[in-house]
Amino acid sequence: MGRFGWLKVVILLSMLAVSGARELKVKDDFPIYNHTLAMILVEYSSAVYMSDLTELFTWTCNRCDGLTEGFEMLELIVDVQHCLQAFVGVAQDLNAIVVAFRGTQEHSIQNWIEDLFWKQLDLNYPGMPDAMVHHGFYSAYHNTTIRPGVLNAVKRGKKLYGDIPVMVTGHSMGGAMASFCALDLVVNHRAENVQLMTFGQPRIGNAAFASYFSQNVPNAIRVTHEHDMVPHLPPYYTHFPQKTYHHFAREVWVYNIGLGSLVYTVEKICDNSGEDPSCSRSVSGSSISDHLTYFGVDLMAETWGSCRIVMSSHIANYSATDLRGNLVLSRNPTSSTLRRNSQTKGQSSSVL
Ligand SMILES: *[C@@H]1O[C@H](CO)[C@@H](O)[C@H](O)[C@H]1NC(C)=O
Ligand SMILES: *[C@@H]1O[C@H](CO)[C@@H](O)[C@H](O)[C@H]1NC(C)=O
Ligand SMILES: *[C@@H]1O[C@H](CO)[C@@H](O)[C@H](O)[C@H]1NC(C)=O
Repeated sequence: MGRFGWLKVVILLSMLAVSGARELKVKDDFPIYNHTLAMILVEYSSAVYMSDLTELFTWTCNRCDGLTEGFEMLELIVDVQHCLQAFVGVAQDLNAIVVAFRGTQEHSIQNWIEDLFWKQLDLNYPGMPDAMVHHGFYSAYHNTTIRPGVLNAVKRGKKLYGDIPVMVTGHSMGGAMASFCALDLVVNHRAENVQLMTFGQPRIGNAAFASYFSQNVPNAIRVTHEHDMVPHLPPYYTHFPQKTYHHFAREVWVYNIGLGSLVYTVEKICDNSGEDPSCSRSVSGSSISDHLTYFGVDLMAETWGSCRIVMSSHIANYSATDLRGNLVLSRNPTSSTLRRNSQTKGQSSSVL
């Protein structure tokens, strides 16, 4: 090894020493939590609840403005059979593909939350020994029309815009589906630069799954709010850490301190265990209303208990329906706003 070879080794070692000390950064190349980004992504998670497909698809719904203005919808997927919804598009200001999920609306929110107590770890996550997940959450993403629709649209987005980041988001059960999607993009489709941010999501797997998840999707944030019940479910049994559900890192717990007019919102960045006892686990999960608003944004459908679909005939031209009545609405962005990322052109290494 020549003189410069040794120099490289010394520099590398000192970089390792520095990165070891900065424990609040993951892998050193991105901040662990970005409040501005959370404010934007929570609006996408809110919009995906809208049931008027025309307004959602044309991005004119009453939740389709504010920080999400100018969003270029690529694909809206409605699994009518299982009452699920997701969309994929490009946020010009983030220069990223955004994928947002809505879970089922079939039952009342109370019933849905009560059922969470009894969800079993009943499926071995494929390709990962010891990693167990809940079959229902897994198949809502993996075994419905949602997955092919989302993958196809992400692929199309990357073709149009280059290898830009993919930000996956969702609230509640939509957060569980978003998590499976982010992992799927990384593990099965070798997508690069995948980020996940969910709001009030339930636990989806055991400790082995959580650790596998964090290795593959290190840029993952689970925002929890005050006493929101759902992140406490299915339960974590401290006495059987190997046998129960276990959240993946990293939680950011949002809560208020103070009284009256002097109320401050704290966003606590939790440890990398996934189950930081000083975050949402330090309080009881007793609130449904804390589940339904994050950062003051409404996260629920206008009506529960119906899988209502509203669509006008003039967007029917964009839609394709399968034998079971599931819908995919697909469009290409208007050319005037098309902004291909020229630096990454031709050097994309991911399979998508
Ligand atoms: C946080 O996210 C916003 C929106 O994507 C971005 O403009 C900003 O640069 C980010 N901040 C940091 C510190 O990365
Ligand atoms: C996928 O769904 C079909 C019907 O919707 C069902 O018959 C099949 O068992 C499911 N597969 C898995 C692995 O859940
Ligand atoms: C839908 O497609 C039909 C036939 O292809 C066309 O005549 C009609 O103008 C289209 N409608 C809209 C709103 O684009």
